[in-house]
Amino acid sequence: MNNLSTWKVSIFGLGYVGLSHAVAYALRGTKIVGFDVDRKKIELIRKGISPIKEPDVVKHLENLVKTGKIKVTEDHKDAVLSTNISFICVNTPPLQDGSADLSQVKSAISMIGEVLRNKEEFHLVVVNSTVPPTTTENVVKPLLEDVSGKKIGEDVGLCFMPEFLREGSAVQDILNPWRIVIGEVDKKGGDVLHQFLLDVYRGKLPPLIRTAPVNAELIKYASNAFLAMRVSFINTIARLCELLPKANVDVVAYGMGLDPRIGTRYLKAGPGFGGICLPKDLRALITVSEKLGFDPILFKAIYEVNEAQIRHVVEIVEMLLGDLSDRVVAILGLAFKAGIDDIRESPAIKIIDYLLERNTKVKVYDPLAMKNAKTVLKDRVFYAPSMYECIKDSDVVIIVTDWDEFKKIEIEKLRSLMKKPIIIIDTRRILDNKIPESDGEFLYIAIGKPLPLKLPKRIEDMR
Ligand code: UDX
Repeated sequence: MNNLSTWKVSIFGLGYVGLSHAVAYALRGTKIVGFDVDRKKIELIRKGISPIKEPDVVKHLENLVKTGKIKVTEDHKDAVLSTNISFICVNTPPLQDGSADLSQVKSAISMIGEVLRNKEEFHLVVVNSTVPPTTTENVVKPLLEDVSGKKIGEDVGLCFMPEFLREGSAVQDILNPWRIVIGEVDKKGGDVLHQFLLDVYRGKLPPLIRTAPVNAELIKYASNAFLAMRVSFINTIARLCELLPKANVDVVAYGMGLDPRIGTRYLKAGPGFGGICLPKDLRALITVSEKLGFDPILFKAIYEVNEAQIRHVVEIVEMLLGDLSDRVVAILGLAFKAGIDDIRESPAIKIIDYLLERNTKVKVYDPLAMKNAKTVLKDRVFYAPSMYECIKDSDVVIIVTDWDEFKKIEIEKLRSLMKKPIIIIDTRRILDNKIPESDGEFLYIAIGKPLPLKLPKRIEDMR
């Protein structure tokens, strides 16, 4: 098989990872059959409507469905029988103890295995879901062999291939990967996947590693833990900068990053990392280590620094105003990063929870994530219809997400709307160059820049 049109791919699980892969591979000419147990999701996709707000999925899905390049089905038999590769892209959400819940992976493998029992041609199963080290070999392989009655490496191939996509640029990340990692249980399966990828990427592959599944599983967890470590590291430097006159964390990060061994990317101090991957994978890595009898002090510290950074934002407000009950705090930004509507493990939500525990009145605004926030925050906060409505009559504004809209805030309008003195806590330093210097009316505090040694008298009077 050396032609994309001969590959037929089924994708099990049409969430973020599954749908982004469906669109990316379909854009490259592969025929996709998507399966999901969620009937509502299937119906939406069938109409060409994306259940996720990923920009390139929203942009291309309708056309790809209309032209038959992506087909969706509720019939798992059809999905397996009409394709030669099945990608498993279901969720592995965290359990109470931090370990990954593998029930959706097991269920997908059982469905596929049951159909493979009566399928004659070779079929490749690729696990894309993030799973703990040894899962592919010790959990997926025996289950697949048992349910299908077939031997891996003969009639069925099995690989684990981690995805490294970022929300907001998921399809582009799949189409232009920095590396591809194939964790192959059997060589035949690895060869088939390698050939499929050569066709998808038209012979131009990025660095590609073929290795034992355990290494591929570890590469995924270790990469996310390392990224989390960079954020916790620079946030620790930010705390130091806050205590040193004239220090600026962005200058320090840039200067560090010019050393190519360090690099300038992913060193932006802020309110802490959030999202579905970094915190979850870090917790899973901690659990896996502990179950093996190893105390992963570094991983634990990365996590603790992050939690402390989130609390630190609230502690700054407390340092300024003392008792926070009945104070009005405006939160600009709810998504865990700009450009998306995802609030999962968002620092903003945790900051709001801390404020609510202190009986603070919280107003919130986000350009995209309001709907998702409502499902979590319910009626505990005031949902402002605009950025300016949000800051109106507030005691403090906390900028949590670096949306472009917030960067364009008109300072004069802000001055007329907020209570005086004006207190802004900018966790991402987006208004750094906009705030008038030595303006007695403003107290502008940026994470990673010196905190005021002495509070202005007007703020002292407010306490
Ligand atoms: C991440 C990884 O980047 C991706 O490779 C993996 O597959 C999934 O997890 P994602 O969760 O979409 O992707 O977001 P990312 O852009 O990595 O940001 C994660 C969090 O870290 C955000 O809360 C972001 O604000 C924060 N962050 C990131 C920083 O605070 N500083 C940085 O320099 C980078």
